[in-house]
Amino acid sequence: MQQKVDLYDSAYDNYDSNVYQQVRTETYGQDFGQTSWVTIRESEEIPQLLALNADSSVLEVGCGSGGYALHLAEKFGCRVLGLDINKAGVRNANRLAMARNLAALVRFEQRDVSTSLPFADATFEAVFSNDVLCHVQRRVEVLREIFRVTKARGRFLFSDALVISGLVTHEEIATRSSIGFYVYSSPGENERLIEEAGFRLMQMIDTTESTALIAKRWHDSREKREKELIATEGHANFQGLQRFLASVNTLTTERRLRRYLYVTAKEE
Ligand SMILES: C[S@@+](CC[C@H](N)C(=O)[O-])C[C@H]1O[C@@H](n2cnc3c(N)ncnc32)[C@H](O)[C@@H]1O
Repeated sequence: MQQKVDLYDSAYDNYDSNVYQQVRTETYGQDFGQTSWVTIRESEEIPQLLALNADSSVLEVGCGSGGYALHLAEKFGCRVLGLDINKAGVRNANRLAMARNLAALVRFEQRDVSTSLPFADATFEAVFSNDVLCHVQRRVEVLREIFRVTKARGRFLFSDALVISGLVTHEEIATRSSIGFYVYSSPGENERLIEEAGFRLMQMIDTTESTALIAKRWHDSREKREKELIATEGHANFQGLQRFLASVNTLTTERRLRRYLYVTAKEE
């Protein structure tokens, strides 16, 4: 059986460590504390796809260590609430909000988003979730909750890197799933669930190629810093994460797993 590998605790606990910062900068080009497949180009497109402006009230589902939510508030002056199940991520995110004088605009809460959301109907103009819903049970219920808290004419965007589009062995699934709970989907399923939850799918963007690139850069950047990372993560976890990243690269390069970005709207 595949050993459980930790990605998020070590990434968020060691957010400030030089070696983790170097890996993020080398992988993405700009450091938002990412642990996802979101390229900088996609990070720049998301605010346009969500039609963000200074009046927007935004919900980020699965905010990780908070860097991207803070970037949005800094750049657009919008209010952002970030939710994540990971305690270290949320602690780091709130610390950064204070340190950057953004606590009046941005706030983070530890929460499992598979349960109901504690917000009134129609609270947010925009909701987004970067590479998170694959970790969460009961997707259609989660989408319905997001629909409920989104304002009429609001937007919701999410990505899913686990759309199966070829033959995948049980060993590949085990390695690809070694960092935690995962749900894989068949082609067409997200589109069906989006509509079932009440949203209209506006755009679906295939980002499989850039996922392969991020996985390779992330893997290679860590490989160069093997000694320092082993000192922090331990040998077994370092190797496990390298196998995980290599499997993402192989499966997406061969297009047996695809990643899509779904842009949706709540119509009146
Ligand atoms: C691939 S990371 C993406 C983080 C961030 N969106 C980014 O772009 O770097 C997935 C995130 O989902 C969070 N997560 C997993 N299950 C969750 C749940 N049930 N509720 C809330 N967050 C969850 C993890 O803690 C992790 O921070």
